[in-house]
Amino acid sequence: MSEVVIRNPQFMDRLNEISDEFFTHKDYDNKKYWTYRIEEDIDQGEYFCSREYLEECLQRDKLVGAPDRYFGQPIAKMCKVESEEWDPYKQKVKFDFAQEIGAHTSALLTYYPPGGYVGWHTNFDANAYQILFTWSDGNGYFRYYDKEKDEIITLPDVKGWQCRHYYFGSDEEPENLCWHSAYSGGERITLAYKFVNNGVANGDTKDQQAKLMRDMLIEEIESV
Ligand SMILES: [Fe+2]
Repeated sequence: MSEVVIRNPQFMDRLNEISDEFFTHKDYDNKKYWTYRIEEDIDQGEYFCSREYLEECLQRDKLVGAPDRYFGQPIAKMCKVESEEWDPYKQKVKFDFAQEIGAHTSALLTYYPPGGYVGWHTNFDANAYQILFTWSDGNGYFRYYDKEKDEIITLPDVKGWQCRHYYFGSDEEPENLCWHSAYSGGERITLAYKFVNNGVANGDTKDQQAKLMRDMLIEEIESV
């Protein structure tokens, strides 16, 4: 998991536009948008991001691709409930912005109310070079499992925008699988964009291209 330093002021402006616009919608945090597997999951975030739950996931026969325990407001749900209110925002952030930054698609656009989270999972089914942007009020964290050291690394959120990138491998490349989870003590918005290869990081043309597009974006974000 590598940090991308947002040095480019224009890029930071774009991100701030995205978060500002989100918060101008009244009732942006509303039970009608809450998405979870079962209601009891709502206040179980710290457990589903814990070592204990990770161990349970690791012992399963089936890999967890998308998180199976979560609490948040994915944009798809918000659009389903209030399409007039949220469809234009989804278009702008999920599609137009993806194009703007040269990404293939958006993997995620989710608002997490206080207590929101995604439990341990690998993204193996969304295999890609991914760029993740997170806006936070500073009360959450991102976690990943360092297999080699058998260690859980917790990266506390900073206030405002931050950016990371990572290659999330498919189930055909276990060495590139990355278990991760995230918890939001306060408010948090996460955007993820994919630069896709053919399903494995084997250095073929498509793989090189995806990586190059990602690297160009990183360079843009980090340049003053
Ligand atoms: Fe994920």
